[in-house]
Amino acid sequence: MNSAPVAERIRLSLFLANAVRDGQITTGLSTLVTAVADACSAVATAVERGIFDGACGNAHSENVHGESQKKLDVVSNDIVIEKLASVSCVRALASEELESIRLMPSSSRGDEDGYLVLFDPLDGSSNLEINGIVGSIFSVLAAPEAGVAIDESHFLQSGVQQVCAGYAIYGASTMFMLTTGRGVDGFTFDRHSESFVLTHPQLRIPDSTCEFAINMSNERFWNEPVHRYVRECVAGAEGPRRANFNMRWIASMVAEVHRILMRGGIFLYPRDSKNREFAGRLRLTYEANPMAFIVEQAGGMSTTGEAPIMNIKPERVHQRVPVILGSKLEVERLVDYHNQTAVD
Ligand code: AHG
Ligand code: MN
Ligand code: MN
Repeated sequence: MNSAPVAERIRLSLFLANAVRDGQITTGLSTLVTAVADACSAVATAVERGIFDGACGNAHSENVHGESQKKLDVVSNDIVIEKLASVSCVRALASEELESIRLMPSSSRGDEDGYLVLFDPLDGSSNLEINGIVGSIFSVLAAPEAGVAIDESHFLQSGVQQVCAGYAIYGASTMFMLTTGRGVDGFTFDRHSESFVLTHPQLRIPDSTCEFAINMSNERFWNEPVHRYVRECVAGAEGPRRANFNMRWIASMVAEVHRILMRGGIFLYPRDSKNREFAGRLRLTYEANPMAFIVEQAGGMSTTGEAPIMNIKPERVHQRVPVILGSKLEVERLVDYHNQTAVD
């Protein structure tokens, strides 16, 4: 990674203009991504200034998952909706914080390619009270042709159909990570120029790693392939892996995926028996799919253990799914352990 001055770097606006010029994305998608990035810089400010704006603490309401909402979950959701409502090619939205899909003013337009946007406006929001890392995740799908009345069924496209996806991370600096299916590019927000500048072009995740991330407090609920994998990592140099592993858990998927993009690693929120009603903890359409797209575009791999995440045909926008993603050789090992258990 070079350390060229900001003035010599490519801004997101030029990056997108070049992609339009080269026929890689439509003008509409460029406008959409610009609006998402604007929304993310506004969310970053809202998170940073929360204490001064009375936006800290609980909203005393619940989302569709029965989780209590923080004020900043609601504020971030409103920011994203407001920014996207002014983009003429955005036909409809789905969000972790909205029970049903939301049609946009342009929902029946047909004069340009239309898109559907799914998002988690604030991921890892349990970290807010400790000034920990949070982020926003988004996924873009093609909308049906003009004249079709949009409903939830149009959002139920498998992850391989994503046109674009990414996330913003609000950490020591604010970053915006993007894929349109041509690798993954990372932009850092420059507070002086108020713009995202390309700082991490064409990121690649190393194939191998000695770092894993899993919420160990759920150990008693895991299935055997995950037990075996973690047992072997923890056994270290004396165990079958013949290597010492490190473990990290930030409780923010954005932060875990970002670490994996920067230095490799594997993240697991696997199927467990804690709540038999759900297949996993994370949500397929606005958490697992966009992160799987990013990770795979950077040379990593993603799976539920049984199947590639992006091959799943969603049944509901708010559906949950087991998630294992990161460095290729480790994810392949877990798929292998799952296959062996299925055969036994
Ligand atoms: P959200 O804040 O959008 O509800 O998502 C939190 C998710 C994810 O970011 C993280 O990996 C996981 O929940 C953490 O779960 P635990 O609290 O079980 O560790
Ligand atoms: Mn989330
Ligand atoms: Mn969230």
